[in-house]
Amino acid sequence: MTDEWFKNAVIYELNIRGFKDSSRDGTGDIRGLISKLDYLDNLGIDCIWLLPMYPSPGLDDGYDISDYYSINPDYGTLEDFKELIFESHKRGIRVIGELVLNHTSDRHPWFIEARSDPSSMYHDYYVWSDTYNKYADARIIFSDTEISNWSWCDKAEKYYWHRFFHSQPDLNFENRDVRDEMKRVFRFWFDLGLDGFRVDAVPYLFEREGTDCENLPETHDYIRELRKRIDEEYPGRILLAEANQWPEDLIKYFGSGDEFHMAFNFPLMPRIFMAFRNESSSPIKDILKRIPPIPGNCQWATFLRNHDELTLEMCTDEERDCMYMAYAEDKRMQLNKGIRRRLNPLLNNNRKKIELAYAMLFTLPGTPVIYYGDEIGMGDNIYLGDRNGVRTPMQWDENRNAGFSECKPSMLYSPVIIDPEYNYNAINVEAQINNQSSLLNFIRLFIHKRKEHPVFGNGDIRFIGVNNEKILSFTRENNGEKALGVFNLSSKAEAARLELQDYSGLTPVELLGGTAFPEIPADEKYIITLPASSFFVFILK
Ligand code: NOJ
Repeated sequence: MTDEWFKNAVIYELNIRGFKDSSRDGTGDIRGLISKLDYLDNLGIDCIWLLPMYPSPGLDDGYDISDYYSINPDYGTLEDFKELIFESHKRGIRVIGELVLNHTSDRHPWFIEARSDPSSMYHDYYVWSDTYNKYADARIIFSDTEISNWSWCDKAEKYYWHRFFHSQPDLNFENRDVRDEMKRVFRFWFDLGLDGFRVDAVPYLFEREGTDCENLPETHDYIRELRKRIDEEYPGRILLAEANQWPEDLIKYFGSGDEFHMAFNFPLMPRIFMAFRNESSSPIKDILKRIPPIPGNCQWATFLRNHDELTLEMCTDEERDCMYMAYAEDKRMQLNKGIRRRLNPLLNNNRKKIELAYAMLFTLPGTPVIYYGDEIGMGDNIYLGDRNGVRTPMQWDENRNAGFSECKPSMLYSPVIIDPEYNYNAINVEAQINNQSSLLNFIRLFIHKRKEHPVFGNGDIRFIGVNNEKILSFTRENNGEKALGVFNLSSKAEAARLELQDYSGLTPVELLGGTAFPEIPADEKYIITLPASSFFVFILK
């Protein structure tokens, strides 16, 4: 277990609330999760990313924290949490949590005191103003629900600043006490054995008049400060940035290897879907060519879907319109600047396209992040509000409440998926685990094969010339190991000539089945044919 474990890992994202209920109250809990660790171990993942596990009024699914130092009582106790860490580590699985720096809940004791007593030390924990005109250039992120980043507080008789829901006042990072408090938070959890944090809403920590209040130099200074502490006191623990930004700004969060260890590749994600929509390799090639190389001790986190809407903020207006047309023709599927659907419904439940998407996720540069339930192809429920349609209970078997909970169905925190195409009777872990042809076993196989080849975590990427724009092809190379991917984005069968002369004499051996293909010739192009929406991943031997 080296300090750079995260470079060659597969991460599994889950919300304790939605995974497994052990107490029959309709809400998932830590003991439930512990009972499913063997499942995750068998799937082959290396790290669990837990969505917020703290006490919270739950107005933003836990991203509105009311106490940073304990566990949401619905989920269990600190003792349960320690056991979760112990049991995970026993299986070689690490656990990262959420560090929500930017804001608290308005029901956090700090805010309650801050608003009722202007002389309290907590007043200055938040950002106040007598007018709502300050920082006018900052965009509104939750644009479907909020009309301003300022909300009036009757008690304080001032406006307070919030980049998300008005129930989430922003912390004032100008205040040294706030900055120090957040260091106490990470020490507390690291001392309990947590392996890292996904850091929420990173770009918005500071505000400056005349700017859009994102990515300010002060934010980078603070992150460097955090990182220094971690390197000194907790080597091997990681920070993963949620910074939904264009490549030029995003890349800066790696600093010179002295800020974040990892960052989500937000620019890449929607372009995988655009490539499907346009049946063209260009969106992926163009964006990856625009993203500069990152420091050697850093890694991308690549993902297809997560607990939020599929964000289209880092798209041009034209790209966004195309995405809405292709993937969200029903207005209910749209939220803020994004699409609130799960992976399978997005890809029309087309198994070939889904496998193709995973094949890219597992072979493009970065550490893949899988969203719970997507490994069995769960559906969504666009009639639930906010992003709740992609946060329904995990489907374990065909029994009551999909095996998620033994409670009365009306007690469930969210209905399970029962529409015919994705009914839990058919779409569940038990049904797929013993079927070698299931999506679950495809993903499991891919994860295990990927692990045998460090080139996927560490290799450089090089695009291969192809005479067919619908085919994406690249190699990955590291320490003498070479892999080749060929992906057909067309919904028809295609043939392609690959410019592989630099690899002449090598034999492509297919990754999943181990079959050897014809040797790469010296002077001619390598001809390959692919059925509709299909791929090959080879190790070049
Ligand atoms: C990003 C999280 O992913 C999202 O779920 C949350 O609503 C916002 N940050 C605010 O914390």
